[in-house]
Amino acid sequence: MSERKIHKTQVAIMGAGPAGLMLSHLLFRAGIENTVVEIRSRDSISRTIRAGILEAGSVDLLVDSGVDNVLRNGHEHEGTEFRVNGEGHRIDFKGLTGNSVWLYPQNDVFDDLAAQREADGGDVRYSCSGTQVSDLTGTPKVFFTDADGQDWELRAEILVGADGSRSLCRGAVPAAERTWHFNEYPFAWFGILAEAPRSAPELIYANSAHGFALISQRTDAVQRMYFQCDPATNLAGWTDEQIWEQLRVRVNGNGFELKEGPVIDKVVLPFRSFVHTPMRHGNLFLAGDAAHTVPPTGAKGLNLALHDVKLLFESLDSYFSTGSSALLDTYSDRALDRVWKAQYFSYWMTTLLHTVPTEPNHDFFRARQIGELRSLLESEHGRAYIAECYTGWQGK
Ligand code: DHB
Repeated sequence: MSERKIHKTQVAIMGAGPAGLMLSHLLFRAGIENTVVEIRSRDSISRTIRAGILEAGSVDLLVDSGVDNVLRNGHEHEGTEFRVNGEGHRIDFKGLTGNSVWLYPQNDVFDDLAAQREADGGDVRYSCSGTQVSDLTGTPKVFFTDADGQDWELRAEILVGADGSRSLCRGAVPAAERTWHFNEYPFAWFGILAEAPRSAPELIYANSAHGFALISQRTDAVQRMYFQCDPATNLAGWTDEQIWEQLRVRVNGNGFELKEGPVIDKVVLPFRSFVHTPMRHGNLFLAGDAAHTVPPTGAKGLNLALHDVKLLFESLDSYFSTGSSALLDTYSDRALDRVWKAQYFSYWMTTLLHTVPTEPNHDFFRARQIGELRSLLESEHGRAYIAECYTGWQGK
């Protein structure tokens, strides 16, 4: 056992995903010392496939802080298609709200931020083990062993838990001091990456009698697609032909045909809604998946995490530059305002596009759902409402 070393810093950040690295980068630019502790390797985070849609506000946060690859390598999407029983309805984000979204995968956001932190000499410790946190209501401490086997005690004024949906920090908050809000859904998404050209210029959210499907994109040569499945689905049992058959019956028709190719990655995504309140305990502040999970419909997870980070950065900057904790004291309430809007939208978009085939009165629920979709999609106000939520309540 090596002798434990002590390192003091202003802000300790648990987790080097996009939320932790974005915060570290913003703090660095403001001259606020910080150290990031991460249990995973940089390579394994980079290879984790997540959603690919950035709201305009998320793009602004990256670009305004000098991380602007998204403008060169991302694709601006000014609308999307809802396909109901094979009939396409375009939602014109730009025309209805003045805003658009960007297709830019979360892996690329991570890679850009990790490279920027490295270029700026940021203190980011990947591949740590034995992590523990303590003294959350005093001077927070983080204990860990780094990738070289050296033991550390990190002492910070503020600890930020940006350590993802299995957050160690969240678990360190006494049960009497927090509330967990939770909902689980009786379906999941089967997600694939396929080597194929784009099937359409924009994303397609399809509601069909065979279930839900989403046609998304990655590059000119690789596409991302999902279809509704049972949460207990065994990936190994699925051939490429069976996967394409599921996607075809849900999306093809009325002259539209998916472009197919070899499936190069498969995953089952569970559907959960979760919120930990409040997002602060003493000098611990939670951000991103550590505090909340949304079901994937609408791609709000990363956007919500980046919004938390924006608010938390402004609060920390004010605290360290003026000594006033006024903004830190309202961080949780301000972050939760948007968290619940996004929870609501992800839940609602999920119920708009999925049904549970085995539930009693399924015929009623499906016909009612088509009624809801038609009344929304045939109304400019309905389409504008979807567009406003999807693009991220800009200016609110
Ligand atoms: C993607 C994922 C989503 O959940 C979504 O709503 C849109 C796009 C994606 O992975 O590209």
